[in-house]
Amino acid sequence: MQAAPKGQLPPDLKIVSVKKFTPEQHNASCGSCHAKVSPLTTAFPPGDRFFDLFDLVALENPDYYPDGRDLGGNYTYTTWLMSPCVKSGKLDCIKCHTSSDRYRFKDEAKANEACLPCHAERVAKAAEHIHHPADKPGIPTKCISCHMPMTAFARMNRSDHSMLPPAPAATLHFGSPNACNLCHKDKDAPGPTRMCASGGAGTTRPRSFSGPVSLMWPESATGGSYKRCWTIVRTQSGTKSLPPLLSA
Ligand code: HEC
Ligand code: HEC
Ligand code: HEC
Ligand code: HEC
Ligand code: HEC
Repeated sequence: MQAAPKGQLPPDLKIVSVKKFTPEQHNASCGSCHAKVSPLTTAFPPGDRFFDLFDLVALENPDYYPDGRDLGGNYTYTTWLMSPCVKSGKLDCIKCHTSSDRYRFKDEAKANEACLPCHAERVAKAAEHIHHPADKPGIPTKCISCHMPMTAFARMNRSDHSMLPPAPAATLHFGSPNACNLCHKDKDAPGPTRMCASGGAGTTRPRSFSGPVSLMWPESATGGSYKRCWTIVRTQSGTKSLPPLLSA
């Protein structure tokens, strides 16, 4: 940019207003710092397209487990792009964070508003979906307890921005973390299955292809969960499966 003659304003002040940004532009501008990338150019003007300027690290990197969960230090953006919520094109960082990095739904009473309005029915019937005895201390009460669990690497916290359900069956296969076992540390990965066999979830159904989660939660053996476990089953039978980022 050249200096404007004395006493005159330059024709373009290079001030970017984010007010009219699309969700994608918001995400790209936060992603310009919160992503593991090789930059393709020397600058990122907010509002530009992310992939024109950055080569994003994806799941071939050893800092990811094969199922896409974080293993090393990865920042947010790769995992975020695996979220079906994000693929809708309607979700942006600003929904949950202020521009000064504050998380908007810290207040316990408002915690599940993070998933509104899009999952309104699920939020309204949260207890039915969460399946935990309501009177026990420390039980998961928030959507993020299971869908965005926080883990740490090199003293840096990272919350799972894929928002995908915990998949103990993937832990068995890949050794990746799952929200259930992050709390139920006393169990090794097959824990939920054994808890189930001991009567925890009141079922003795034979092992179904959706693995430990559906054994735990028999009702979940319909609809949604099948899609995900499909990937795992194909892997267990020796067929290489595509990570969610690629199979979309
Ligand atoms: C110019 C680079 C840059 C941009 C752009 C940027 N951030 Fe950050 N952000 C950082 C750095 C660096 C940190 C770590 C600072 C620290 O540890 O205190 C951070 C920290 C955060 C944190 C964690 C705060 C905490 O208390 O732990 C959140 C949440 C966050 N940023 C969200 C966002 C969102 C949302 C956007 C887009 C509106 C954004 N950032 C844009 C560089 C950036
Ligand atoms: C701006 C809208 C929006 C918000 C907010 C949102 N989602 Fe979603 N989410 C979607 C859309 C759209 C889909 C894909 C269609 C569907 O399955 O309902 C989706 C799908 C999902 C899935 C299904 C994954 C699958 O493979 O079947 C999960 C799990 C999920 N969201 C969890 C969450 C959680 C937890 C939150 C809050 C922390 C959240 N979402 C916030 C829009 C949103
Ligand atoms: C105790 C852990 C846990 C909590 C807390 C939790 N979920 Fe889930 N969620 C799961 C598991 C496990 C699955 C996959 C199995 C299934 O489909 O039931 C799932 C599946 C989903 C799906 C996609 C699959 C489908 O059936 O459509 C959505 C959307 C979702 N959860 C949203 C939410 C929202 C919104 C909240 C908060 C009200 C929430 N979850 C709280 C564990 C949890
Ligand atoms: C549906 C809600 C939601 C959305 C949307 C969201 N985040 Fe987050 N984010 C969270 C939660 C929950 C935490 C953990 C907050 C806490 O407890 O401090 C978090 C934490 C973070 C942190 C701190 C490190 C970590 O992972 O715990 C960063 C950085 C961050 N988010 C960046 C982003 C960026 C960049 C985007 C958009 C690309 C984004 N977030 C979108 C919910 C969200
Ligand atoms: C935020 C922590 C947390 C998360 C996440 C969590 N749990 Fe729990 N869970 C608890 C606590 C606390 C209890 C109550 C323990 C007790 O009996 O005192 C419990 C109880 C249970 C029980 C016994 C229920 C009963 O009826 O007695 C089962 C089974 C269980 N959890 C399975 C799971 C599965 C499967 C997941 C993941 C889908 C999960 N939990 C996620 C904390 C958690």
